[in-house]
Amino acid sequence: MNFTDIQQTEDAFQVATYKKMAIAVERGLGSWVWTSEGEKYLDLYGGHAVCATGHCHPHVVEAIRAQAGQALFYSNLVYSEVRGRAAEKLASVAPPTLKKVFFCNSGTEANENAMRAARMATRREKVVSFSGGFHGRTADSISATFLGKYRDIGKPNVPLHVEAEFGNIDSVRSVADEETAAIILEPIQSMAGVSEADPGFFRELRDLCDERGIILIFDEVQTGVGRTGNWFFAGSELADGVEPDIVTLAKSLGSGVPVGACLMNDRVSSNIKENDLGTTFGGGMLAMAAVVATLEAIESDGMVENAANLEQHLREQLTNVPGIVRVRGRGCLLGIEFDSPCGPIHAALLSKKIITGTSSDPKVLRLLPPLSTSLEEIDLLVECLKQPATATAS
Ligand SMILES: Cc1ncc(COP(=O)(O)O)c(C=O)c1O
Repeated sequence: MNFTDIQQTEDAFQVATYKKMAIAVERGLGSWVWTSEGEKYLDLYGGHAVCATGHCHPHVVEAIRAQAGQALFYSNLVYSEVRGRAAEKLASVAPPTLKKVFFCNSGTEANENAMRAARMATRREKVVSFSGGFHGRTADSISATFLGKYRDIGKPNVPLHVEAEFGNIDSVRSVADEETAAIILEPIQSMAGVSEADPGFFRELRDLCDERGIILIFDEVQTGVGRTGNWFFAGSELADGVEPDIVTLAKSLGSGVPVGACLMNDRVSSNIKENDLGTTFGGGMLAMAAVVATLEAIESDGMVENAANLEQHLREQLTNVPGIVRVRGRGCLLGIEFDSPCGPIHAALLSKKIITGTSSDPKVLRLLPPLSTSLEEIDLLVECLKQPATATAS
């Protein structure tokens, strides 16, 4: 099928809820995708922050193929070797206190379950989250999302969700009390335009949670699994070494096979009894094979280190480029802040066959490339941004 036929078919039969780029992706390899028209694009949006290991990493593809021929699925009503290996592997790269996992299917589901687990552990109901944070589109997660129109489209919201200002501990102190079950946050607010907080803020949050008996949840759906140049934001120097009580994961975890997870410490997991949490598909064999292979590929290819190098290189290359104010973010979760709205730059890059992302800050272009992206590949973006016609497109 050519692009026009594909577009017409999708538009005729799919609910019109997504704003799409005018390309149809047919296949991918590493940081590149090929379209229905045989054109090759550099994917610096990483399939929407999902393809951390690059498109079709051979180790991941091989593991999925092998598992598909063996057992596609059985639920948690039975034991499974590959599920055990996935949980063990995840624990081996996670911060030391986060050793128990609950597998589910998506980021929003991971956050729903994290908030429920926090309520169970504390026997409290209130949840504090932050302006600018995004946590998903199911009832509890969207009610914790104080960004743009999301809470409105999720009405009626789950009660007892309260907003605080990201990076401002006094604001958190004024709303997080002895009735609060959890504080949930994106440690780097991606959709908001890649907003960061000082490492000291995470230490202050930890202290506040300890003082008031609150469960601290890091939503690492975007920052997790190596993306920031650390296996997790939790426990890294970006968080001043702070380990939350729960880390939620999705996106990169299965390299594109849908999977989510809540990593928990003993305080939380010891309060969860049989049948308190559950989902049919969570922990299915195909997804678990993808998790094991994803983590192995990230480890064996040195992708965590590569993500850190890539950030450093891009920062150096984009210093003093006209139109660029600063580079925000860490590793392969980066925002390029321009001095004017970047929509036209996003479009100009697409016309040069480079896929990037926008954010809810009109001046911030988001990059979420595979962690395997090379410096030579990122230089293709740099070259374009240094051409005045791209950098000043408006
Ligand atoms: C930080 C964060 N949390 C949660 C979600 C929701 O994940 P999902 O779309 O898999 O439900 C997203 C999705 O973009 C996200 O970026």
